[in-house]
Amino acid sequence: MKLFIPGPVEVRKDLLEVMSDPMIGHRSPEFSELYDDVVSGLQSVMQTDNDVFISTSSATGLLEASVRNTVDEKCLNISNGAFGDRWHEITMRNGKDCRKLEFDWGEPVDSDVVAEAFEEEFYDVVTLVHNESSTGLMNPVKEVSKVLPDDTLLLVDTVSSMGGVDFPVDEYGVDICVFGTQKCMGLPPGLAFCSVSEDAVDRSEVVGDKGYYFSFDIFRKYNGRRQTPTTPNISLLYALEKQLDYIVNEEGVESRWERHSVMANETREWAREHFDVFPASGYESESLTAVENTRDIDVGKLISRLKDKGYVISNGYGDLREETFRIGHLADRQPKEVTELLNIIEEILDL
Ligand SMILES: Cc1ncc(COP(=O)(O)O)c(C=O)c1O
Repeated sequence: MKLFIPGPVEVRKDLLEVMSDPMIGHRSPEFSELYDDVVSGLQSVMQTDNDVFISTSSATGLLEASVRNTVDEKCLNISNGAFGDRWHEITMRNGKDCRKLEFDWGEPVDSDVVAEAFEEEFYDVVTLVHNESSTGLMNPVKEVSKVLPDDTLLLVDTVSSMGGVDFPVDEYGVDICVFGTQKCMGLPPGLAFCSVSEDAVDRSEVVGDKGYYFSFDIFRKYNGRRQTPTTPNISLLYALEKQLDYIVNEEGVESRWERHSVMANETREWAREHFDVFPASGYESESLTAVENTRDIDVGKLISRLKDKGYVISNGYGDLREETFRIGHLADRQPKEVTELLNIIEEILDL
């Protein structure tokens, strides 16, 4: 099966193979070498000098950790999609005082409206999803960052964009940036990462009730030893080390972003010719395209006919189930494979 869903993604054979290498102890010098390699590769991909913590969890674990460690007063959860909503729910379920600032699904977050929210009330933390996988939209994080007060921490979910899209964490003033292995990084699910600014770790020192597993002060302590606090998924770290070397030294981060752009452009052009693109123009995702079902096709039927031919795409998310369908063009996919998929959809739908 060829996966064209917004993650998990197809993983190269050489990466799967390295995952069967023998174990090493996670308190050994060999592990610290692996840790150093991986952290410096992640810092390159994220364009940050901040510490990067590695968690054996899916990305949601670190999305939860990020609010748990930093919200002392009140959090503003900005949302224009399912994952923005989810982060608000996470914040609430952790007993934090919070407000959801909502925008229509498919419309970008408006930084002027964010600035107005701060005129009414102060928030010590803002959460924002960069690449909203439910609507195929990329939010203008830089613009939002600019309107925030200095003592507000900006937390960003780049789960479905980091590694495939140019997202300079330090330049954008992002205090905590979260993503995982299973999307643009082209690896199996199982590890998540977050860069954490000094301000964010300092805040975590004064915030109570952080539990143990996701406590940033414990992460910081072990990071100083070039280790993770608890036993990590070592097999996946082998694959991550190999993939980071490939991304940074072989393919090159800029070429990787460019390849994602080429695939996104082709998919968008195709969608505009035969259907439409769901998110507002100028804010379309580079890693997945949400195609607006303007022809009122039976999305479930298209998905099952594609499956018969060995291709998997996604239906729309939640309420958008039949209104859109989503094509993932991320990780190590090649433009010619995207062309191949689009041709097959044309054939099935007789476009
Ligand atoms: C934008 C976004 N945020 C968060 C998540 C949740 O990530 P995970 O399943 O790794 O916890 C996803 C997963 O699809 C996502 O696309």
